[in-house]
Amino acid sequence: MRIELENAGHHAGIGAVTRAAFAGGDEAELIERLRADGLVRLSLVAVDGERVVGHVLFTTLHVVVDGRIVDALCLAPVSVLPQYQRRGVGSMLIRDGLARCKALGGEAVVVLGHAAYYPRFGFSADLASKLAAPFAGEAFMALELVAGALAGDAGEVVYPPAFGIDGGH
Ligand SMILES: CC(C)(COP(=O)(O)OP(=O)(O)OC[C@H]1O[C@@H](n2cnc3c(N)ncnc32)[C@H](O)[C@@H]1OP(=O)(O)O)[C@@H](O)C(=O)NCCC(=O)NCCS
Repeated sequence: MRIELENAGHHAGIGAVTRAAFAGGDEAELIERLRADGLVRLSLVAVDGERVVGHVLFTTLHVVVDGRIVDALCLAPVSVLPQYQRRGVGSMLIRDGLARCKALGGEAVVVLGHAAYYPRFGFSADLASKLAAPFAGEAFMALELVAGALAGDAGEVVYPPAFGIDGGH
């Protein structure tokens, strides 16, 4: 098993992994829209032999805190082939991805996901709670790659149109 940067040869495998993991969801099309809109900052694949078995995507996200623009990324989606799940592949992709996002200059990462999964990587719903967004609650989490990146009283997250979220957020 190895982690690689996405290249065009991985696109079909990424689509297959995403469709299998999300069983009929819109996530594979979301990846294509984010790519087409030039929003991809980091895309990593987990490869077993020549087969893509996992994928994680980090895209540019508009985040402002107390009027200050934060260099933020959205983690979505992350997928592992069902028969490869619960073997650490997702964790490896996320940990490697977060380290690479930091190296790219990213200051913070936002995720909407399972409340029981993401805190182990440092994500916090409490940290995200000051950010006005189309989401709220324990599934909406944030992580600082740079200490203090989200420090402040109030902020806002605006999702790009690729996410298809009503209200422009
Ligand atoms: C979520 C996902 C990427 C995790 O990948 P993975 O390789 O199975 O994860 P890991 O092996 O690194 O970690 C396994 C842990 O994740 C937890 N986990 C997996 N899916 C979970 C879920 N839906 N809710 C809560 N925890 C979950 C497992 O309970 C396990 O926890 P444990 O270590 O305490 O037992 C993978 O299960 C997947 O593709 N799921 C379907 C698509 C999806 O839901 N993506 C995320 C959207 S937020």
